Amino acid sequence: MAFPLVGVIIATSLLVWFLLQRRKKNESKLSHLKEIPGPKGLPFLGNVLQLGTFPNDQFTKWSKEYGAIYKVNLGSQMVVIISDPKLCKEIFTNDPVYTGRPYFEGFDIYLEHPGLGMFASEGDLWETHRRFLLRQLRDFGFGKSSMESLIMDEVNEVLERFQKAEGKPIGQMRETLRLAIVNSLWTILSSQRFKHDDPKLSQLTENIIKSFDNIFEGGSLLIFLPWLRHIIPGYSGYTTMRKEMEGFKHFLEGSVNQHKRDLKEENLKDFIDVYLAEVRKTTDEKSPFYGTVAERQLVATMLDLFLAGSDSSATTLSWTIVYLCKFPEVQKKLQKEIEAVTGNARQVSVTDRPNMPYAVALVDEILRHSSIVPDGAQHRAMAEREFHGYRIPKDAWIQPNLFFIHRDNKIWGDGDSFRPERFLTADGKKYVKSDSLQPFQVGRRVCVGETLARDNIFLYLTNIFQKFDVKFDPKGKEPSLETIPGFFRAPEPYTVIMKERLSSK
Ligand code: HEM
Repeated sequence: MAFPLVGVIIATSLLVWFLLQRRKKNESKLSHLKEIPGPKGLPFLGNVLQLGTFPNDQFTKWSKEYGAIYKVNLGSQMVVIISDPKLCKEIFTNDPVYTGRPYFEGFDIYLEHPGLGMFASEGDLWETHRRFLLRQLRDFGFGKSSMESLIMDEVNEVLERFQKAEGKPIGQMRETLRLAIVNSLWTILSSQRFKHDDPKLSQLTENIIKSFDNIFEGGSLLIFLPWLRHIIPGYSGYTTMRKEMEGFKHFLEGSVNQHKRDLKEENLKDFIDVYLAEVRKTTDEKSPFYGTVAERQLVATMLDLFLAGSDSSATTLSWTIVYLCKFPEVQKKLQKEIEAVTGNARQVSVTDRPNMPYAVALVDEILRHSSIVPDGAQHRAMAEREFHGYRIPKDAWIQPNLFFIHRDNKIWGDGDSFRPERFLTADGKKYVKSDSLQPFQVGRRVCVGETLARDNIFLYLTNIFQKFDVKFDPKGKEPSLETIPGFFRAPEPYTVIMKERLSSK
């Protein structure tokens, strides 16, 4: 008896699904437009099962097969993949309708208040806070520290750690760099700085990484099948994800409450202070800075800055070490430029950048070749639109294939080679920017941390290689240039030997 009943349920569900799809299309004013091409999938599941452990490999195969605009269905969600830099610029810049974000049910830090923070918000809340955050990051000068001296505090502690190894093998590079990056973000937010061996810093970093891993790895099934959290909360990863998030939220709220008690409006020390002062002076109930919801928005934004800003930067820096060990001639050229500019009598500063075209080109080549966010971050079309003759339905997600764009031989000639000179004039004297390089995506929602991330990469890169010759540990396994599984494209684990080149200053 059970089999016919299951059969009837499946057949009815398929019919309802098919009728709903048809009705959606018939309601559209643009149904005369051609369908976006793309691979065939299964009902309900769409193309989910075709993605595997490295989804970008599959997206890249499809980019080659279907071209610059194609669609896949992940569960019932249509995702439009864009694999051309000009089209990315066009779609993410011109029309505000594409500034929407997919809504991931159950992923909010405050379940009773969905859509808070920088990453998940849309409309007025997003726009006002984005402007505020960008201004604070740009004008950063809370207390005594400027952004650069704050980054250099961390760089110097990392250099000290490498020096203490006295030429013995150093592993765990991504983890070491993560501590440093989290510390600088935490100092910007709360003006509290830890020593790198302080267990509170390891705890904070672990909290961030666990929340992130749970959201993007354990929770990936929940993105497309959110109802699973009601049926198998433990098995689907939902219970662990919530536990990590609650712990982290509690920590951030504690710091915000402490800042509220200590706030002195004549001496705003950090981002939390500046934000709380804004909330205090806001009397308009309609303002996104009004009342307790605004305080929750602050906590959600802090969480986003950690999730988006820490492992992304640490992973890029970890690739930096890999590339410069794989290509010792690049390391030598960089060291020559550093010496020409600083005489190796002082450390490198961001103000040296205009005189260091090779280092600037090298940063771009590291960002291009590593493409740590291979599929960018999805946007949501907030209304139906025509795009290059195709119908993009309301609520479709738009996803760039940044890895494909960054390795496309039609753009770069030799996309798989690591060659910083591609960002220099033929005589090697001037840096040349390329619009096809989009590691921070492009347009209205482009990464808010781009300037901070670029300053970080430049300062770590130049100051590490000014002080040390770095090579892979001959007794260890040399990493390939392929990625390990995870949300970010990250290098395989490796160990290096750092040999001091300059006497300590
Ligand atoms: C190498 C390092 C980094 C890379 C490759 C990177 C990449 C990206 C990408 C691809 C996006 C998606 C943009 C979009 O949706 O159009 C993004 C968004 C974002 N990033 Fe970064 N990022 C990095 C570092 C940082 C840092 C250091 C911070 C903050 C301190 C940060 C904060 C954010 C935030 C808050 C968003 C969401 C912006 C919004 O929705 O309006 N990122 N990032």
